[in-house]
Amino acid sequence: MVAFPELRMRRLRELEPMRVLSRETRLSPSDFIYPIFVTHGRDLREPIEPMPGCYQLSVDHLLAEVTEAAELGIPGVLLFGIPQNKDPRAREAYDEQGIIQEAIRVIKQAVPDMLVITDVCLCEYTDHGHCGIVDGDRVDNDATLELLARTALSHTLAGADVVAPSAMMDGQVKAIRTTLDQNRFKDVPIIAYAAKYASAFYGPFRVAAESAPSFGDRGGYQMDPANRRMAMREIELDIEEGADVVMVKPALAYLDVIARARDSFNYPIAAYNVSGEFSMLKAASANGWLDEQRAAVEVLTAIKRAGADIILSYYAKDVARWLREDGSR
Ligand code: PBG
Repeated sequence: MVAFPELRMRRLRELEPMRVLSRETRLSPSDFIYPIFVTHGRDLREPIEPMPGCYQLSVDHLLAEVTEAAELGIPGVLLFGIPQNKDPRAREAYDEQGIIQEAIRVIKQAVPDMLVITDVCLCEYTDHGHCGIVDGDRVDNDATLELLARTALSHTLAGADVVAPSAMMDGQVKAIRTTLDQNRFKDVPIIAYAAKYASAFYGPFRVAAESAPSFGDRGGYQMDPANRRMAMREIELDIEEGADVVMVKPALAYLDVIARARDSFNYPIAAYNVSGEFSMLKAASANGWLDEQRAAVEVLTAIKRAGADIILSYYAKDVARWLREDGSR
């Protein structure tokens, strides 16, 4: 093997264009899905305090946001809704007049080329904030499946291109696939939140979506952060149930899980750079402790390097803008 002093690794780093040519991982706007929060009402653009730059948007403001994302080259948006009313059976989740259904119709009408992906879960719509139907202090897995399938169907009827179940109920992918297939939606793909951990990093999202559980936590259905082999089983099962894309969530503290998933499955791997991961960088850079652009690009590049094909991130639009300004990356 050639080694120092004959070999000098710095030759690949000395000149900027050589560094560019040697770069193994490049971010592109087309890597990203941009999550958006939609709320009832008109002319609302409510800032989400722990997520600077993110807003709860009424449908009229939604279009500007989606159009901007499209112009920046981002292929898809992921929609989350804040309902008018919350109740034990999450009625607005599968209501034809629900906020998400309305948002889908408006986007598909005005920006038809934007891929509209919907998060399929009940936590924003239940009064107790859990992701399924509650029986006593337990979440009833099997009773929840029907409502998740109904929710996914109502999204596709409204025009959603892709559904993304995130409730971590066993059998949810199968239940949704079966229902879509029976209703002329055989071609609608499922992005499964397959390895979704019970993470502290969802904190800011629960402020944004007003979806914190009113009792207990999600440890009875979301995964233990300590487990990686179990994540592989979750992914394997979701693939068997009909998932087209499998997701690891969160991303940053789970790069090993992303890498293992990339090696183990010949399916597109998505990774969710979640709210808390975003808020950390925002808070540190607001204090002048981090260079936001460099830190965000470093983190997102690492997620891609670990093996993610698709990155869901609140930074999507910023990154697309930064890439446009600095084409050399
Ligand atoms: C719905 C859902 C959550 C997130 C995405 N879908 C919240 C949760 O599971 O508590 C979190 C996203 C983020 O933190 O950015 N279940």
